[in-house]
Amino acid sequence: MNFADADRTPTGPDAEPGSDAETGPDARPAGSDAETGPDAKPTGPAAEPADPAAAGDATRGPIDHDGRRDELAAALAEVRRRIAEAATAAGRQAAEVRLVAITKTFPAEDAALLADLGVTDLGENRDQEAGEKAAEVRELGPDRRPRWHMVGRLQRNKARSVVGWADVVQSLDSVRLADALSRAARVAMDEGRRSTPLDVLLQASLDDDPERGGCPLDGLAALADHAAGLDGLRLVGVMAVAPLGADPDRAYATLWQASTTLRARHPQASEVSAGMSGDLESAIRQGSTCVRVGTALLGGRRIASP
Ligand SMILES: Cc1ncc(COP(=O)(O)O)c(C=O)c1O
Repeated sequence: MNFADADRTPTGPDAEPGSDAETGPDARPAGSDAETGPDAKPTGPAAEPADPAAAGDATRGPIDHDGRRDELAAALAEVRRRIAEAATAAGRQAAEVRLVAITKTFPAEDAALLADLGVTDLGENRDQEAGEKAAEVRELGPDRRPRWHMVGRLQRNKARSVVGWADVVQSLDSVRLADALSRAARVAMDEGRRSTPLDVLLQASLDDDPERGGCPLDGLAALADHAAGLDGLRLVGVMAVAPLGADPDRAYATLWQASTTLRARHPQASEVSAGMSGDLESAIRQGSTCVRVGTALLGGRRIASP
């Protein structure tokens, strides 16, 4: 299933000013013929436009400094080529794999240009930066309204702010955070600051390193049951970052297994968010339905992000 389409009417950001502390081998989806049940290959998101140039012509378009648009268009074409090639090699369709462009540390102009080029999903990992950027992107007025994903570690005290700009939180890793997001999303909907529930992915820890975030694999089922029962949230899948130095195929195979187990109880939670600039081929081979790509699209991040 797809991430539910959020209402594109600006619902926020209602970002709070101030500090920002946060800094499968079975049923491998290679042309699988199993269409239903937890082992079935997750059906992917809707295809992004094949022709980015057809993405619209807003009267107030994003700013194109020094040919940045061409630079981003070329990088985007190359990333899309990699996704298509990896999907074909795995016997899958490129349209099954959503591309989330990670724009953290890059300016709103870049995010707006990407949206203008047809990128439907943008990701950030710091609440304050993202809230401000989402508002600026709206101001810049690209024709398309991107769907915003929070992919970084999130503290509970940021829940109210995050629901003001994020359509999706990919880094849900605790019951307490789920409760906070549920409460915040319900209040935001009651107050008219958002019109749809918040889509959430459970971040799985593949290395049990508490510093890197994520829920231990043996806690995922309980977290999923809890999150699925909360108003204001829609459980849509799982996410993971491959452990540093690990074989990404092995790591993402483990995530696929976790997803398979999860889907047995929560069939709607079919998204598998895995793969970044350096390992998206492995992730797609292992069933990813959503790659999160920063460096390969935007270049190296010059500013350190805590
Ligand atoms: C959770 C997460 N996913 C994906 C990315 C994108 O990584 P890359 O720049 O290697 O594509 C980042 C970057 O910081 C991230 O934090």
